[in-house]
Amino acid sequence: MVSSRARKITTQTLLKMKQAGENIAMLTSYDYSLARMVDGAGIDVILVGDSASNVMAGNETTLPITLDQMIYHAQCVVNGVERALVVVDMPFGTYQGDSKTALDSAIRIMKESGGHAVKLEGGSEVAESVERIVNAGIPVMGHLGLTPQSIYKFGTYTVRAKEEGEASKLMEDAKVLEESGCFSMVLEKIPSDLAKHASESLVIPTIGIGAGPHCDGQVLVLHDMLGITKDFSPRFLRRYADVGQVVGDAVSHFVEDVRSGDFPNDDESY
Ligand code: KIV
Repeated sequence: MVSSRARKITTQTLLKMKQAGENIAMLTSYDYSLARMVDGAGIDVILVGDSASNVMAGNETTLPITLDQMIYHAQCVVNGVERALVVVDMPFGTYQGDSKTALDSAIRIMKESGGHAVKLEGGSEVAESVERIVNAGIPVMGHLGLTPQSIYKFGTYTVRAKEEGEASKLMEDAKVLEESGCFSMVLEKIPSDLAKHASESLVIPTIGIGAGPHCDGQVLVLHDMLGITKDFSPRFLRRYADVGQVVGDAVSHFVEDVRSGDFPNDDESY
């Protein structure tokens, strides 16, 4: 077993975990308090996902979140983390134009947030940007399959790469991303067999979400797995708690106590 439990996680640790057959655990976080709990519980990687656009801001898609907003969320997360590798999503519009813009955006994220790596969506079309960012010393995580920043191109959030053509394009893209210098990649909502094939073909670790058990690691959105978000129930999501219920019950109880005059009592007063 790789001794990844007691010291800070680096991109090298993740590679060694793959080589040792040890699964990588990744969750999202967007703020100090939850990131501190997630890190303290032993997570390997914290993703400051652009899913903050949905979960934190209530937007329908990930498209509206800005670079400044992502940097703010990442700063908050970094303040709460001692051990995990913190990966920050590059938001829509900050890397697709040209590789110079992509590098400038990645540098801003690293300089202003203190995160340890960036993540971006796409395959061969972002390869030049990946190379340029990696050459500047910034680790890059790729993201293939269902890439939510392209939702208006896909039209739906259904499983990707079920057809032969899209599956072989995904395999090609995965190879290109690895050759361009990515240290890892997310595979989102693709058939389990394809994720297995990709994970076995790549040296770098794959992290799956809705991509079956054969990836080198798994990621979920924290608010989904905690049961805070209620209106999102894809098949791949396992709910580990019902925090939404706990919060609702606690708030109702507080309202009741305030209305009845039970709170605060003498012990809670000066
Ligand atoms: O933004 C995000 O939370 C993500 C995960 C779903 C992988 O990209």
